[in-house]
Amino acid sequence: MYTLEELKGIVEGCHLCPLHQDRKNTVFGQGNPDAKIIFIGEGPGQVEDDTGKAFVGPAGQLLTKAIEGIGFTREDVYIGNIVKCRPPQNRTPLKEEVETCIPYLKWQVKLVKPKIIVCLGSIAATNIIDSNFKITKQRGTWYERKGTWIMATYHPSAVLRDALKKRPFWEDFKTIRKKYDML
Ligand code: URA
Repeated sequence: MYTLEELKGIVEGCHLCPLHQDRKNTVFGQGNPDAKIIFIGEGPGQVEDDTGKAFVGPAGQLLTKAIEGIGFTREDVYIGNIVKCRPPQNRTPLKEEVETCIPYLKWQVKLVKPKIIVCLGSIAATNIIDSNFKITKQRGTWYERKGTWIMATYHPSAVLRDALKKRPFWEDFKTIRKKYDML
């Protein structure tokens, strides 16, 4: 079994899908390797591609606020993405790109062994929870899989675009804290 650092090195050399062609950096994900909570987004945006770090642009700033709002720091949790290279113009990653990249994420999750997985947005939710997942209807609902609790909330970018999503997003974060405290 590889370590997270070894896996990161493998991802840095990955050429398995066309997304590697335009990347400046791979964005492996970062945080506490023993985190109890892992947040999973869609894929790197521009600032993430520039820096090689997940969720450091505007969506990342909102995610940081939400994490801190429930009493954690970014260093307490682990943050990653479904795809590790930025899709051109931030388009949604294609099915083939997701299928090629998602084994890395599954590997990461196996190494971190979180108690709670939070999917940020519908790309994460449909690829992790259920392919028919409807984010508006099913966000905030807990699913249990082999002792791990999984839920989805809105993607922070969606919250930045639509103020009506702020309150449910925040409510979902409060339930993350509650679940954490119960475990
Ligand atoms: N959006 C994502 O889904 N992931 C990031 O890392 C940044 C923005």
